[in-house]
Amino acid sequence: MISLSDLRQFKQQGRKFSCLTCYDASMAKAMELAEIDSILVGDSLGMAIQGRDSTLPVTVADMAYHTAAVRRGNQHAFLLTDLPFMSYATLNDALVNARTMMQAGAQMVKMEGTAWLAETVQVLTRNGIPVCIHLGLMPQSVHVFGGYKLQARTRAAADQLIADCQAVVDAGAALLLLECVPAQLGREIAELFPGVPVIGIGAGVDTDGQVLVVQDMLGLTFGRVARFVRNFMKEQSGETAITDAFRAFHTAVQDQSFPAKEHTFQVEL
Ligand code: KIV
Repeated sequence: MISLSDLRQFKQQGRKFSCLTCYDASMAKAMELAEIDSILVGDSLGMAIQGRDSTLPVTVADMAYHTAAVRRGNQHAFLLTDLPFMSYATLNDALVNARTMMQAGAQMVKMEGTAWLAETVQVLTRNGIPVCIHLGLMPQSVHVFGGYKLQARTRAAADQLIADCQAVVDAGAALLLLECVPAQLGREIAELFPGVPVIGIGAGVDTDGQVLVVQDMLGLTFGRVARFVRNFMKEQSGETAITDAFRAFHTAVQDQSFPAKEHTFQVEL
């Protein structure tokens, strides 16, 4: 099973790693066959599985249920799980709910936020729970942002985001996830933190790992498709098509053909 040390080693070696969201055991098994490096049990399951219009209604019990199913289906990938909306607003909530995810089979929990999470990161890490911090576009804060939009479009905003990364890394964050930021900023952050793997979604080709929501990369998104999505199912056929799509994603991440220019946000900072 891939560990956090393996992800750190991949970064040191310059070997890009693949990550997909996953919510059930059969998809998790197909990802194991395709040797996907890491799986995120994302609270995007609110939209992808439950048909909601945001991640806000997702509960701790939902996340634990899907984490256990995914872990049973996949013994290969590094598995991280989202702490859902308002489940880490206090230190005590963060501890209790992160314990639930780790006991369900997660190897790490992910929280959305900025420097304000530093103390939470420190306390969880001290208690044996590795933490990923999700910055840039944070879907749990969609009503604060006023929509799903590109973040850190100016030098000042990019510098603020870098300062937030520094604060959570200093507190012990072991992984960073950047969503919807200029490709230049993705590269800067990956370079600034040599000991901390950085996963990107709409953050350019230079982050250490790439993540996509599984329904998006299988072409199961009905409605607006985000710029950073590539449909890997299009090129497949036959009964192993889904596993082949996962394998194609893994290969494209490793050889850096994904994300291509058309999937990234090119803003000069
Ligand atoms: O919940 C999720 O699927 C995520 C991805 C968008 C990275 O956080």
